[in-house]
Amino acid sequence: MTRDDHTMAAVPSLTTARLLLRPFHLSDAPNIQQLAGAEEVAAGTFFPHPYEDGMAEQWIVDQEQAHESGTAVSFAITLADHATFIGSISLDIVSIHQHARLGYWLGVPYWNHGYGTEAVGAVLHYGFMQLNLHRIYSPHFQGNAASGRVLQKVGMTYEGRMREHYVRFGRPVDLELYGMLKREFMERT
Ligand SMILES: CC(C)(COP(=O)(O)OP(=O)(O)OC[C@H]1O[C@@H](n2cnc3c(N)ncnc32)[C@H](O)[C@@H]1OP(=O)(O)O)[C@@H](O)C(=O)NCCC(=O)NCCS
Repeated sequence: MTRDDHTMAAVPSLTTARLLLRPFHLSDAPNIQQLAGAEEVAAGTFFPHPYEDGMAEQWIVDQEQAHESGTAVSFAITLADHATFIGSISLDIVSIHQHARLGYWLGVPYWNHGYGTEAVGAVLHYGFMQLNLHRIYSPHFQGNAASGRVLQKVGMTYEGRMREHYVRFGRPVDLELYGMLKREFMERT
């Protein structure tokens, strides 16, 4: 097999009413470090805290490699009208199961404007219609009500709680799971 046979297409850009989701560039690293470095963002994710120099650059390189190998696709979330970087959204793909785990975060100044819901809607559409995934699921930490609300608003189904599934900052945390099947997405659109 030649490299061209298995090289995936470049990460596309997706547009919504107010957002442009685009591939990451190394020049996004300082914005990632600043926004992902907030304690409030770390609290909902597994981001290193503090978020140190070089980590964002490494993450971008890792994401490019994961995309090339077909195991992930990540988008920078930007405001469409002035290109401001506000966060990130990713699908971690297991192609033999045709499923992906959805993860996302926004910088604190951009919370509660509906941007998270808008970005998740666009990536569900991309995952089901372009990647032809069968299922997309998203876990969040118990207590992360904003994330749960986003997943409810896009129509994902609450599938249950895995008790003390994670350890975060040295403490066990429950996982709350949401999921959607392609046929359910099709029924909504
Ligand atoms: C989760 C996150 C992306 C949400 O993004 P967002 O753009 O603020 O989400 P939206 O504005 O689309 O929707 C947020 C919803 O949660 C609700 N909400 C926010 N804080 C809440 C709280 N403490 N309790 C209950 N509901 C809350 C909002 O009212 C809104 O619901 P509504 O439209 O019914 O009023 C953002 O909070 C974030 O980045 N958090 C840190 C990282 C993280 O947790 N990522 C998810 C990992 S699974």
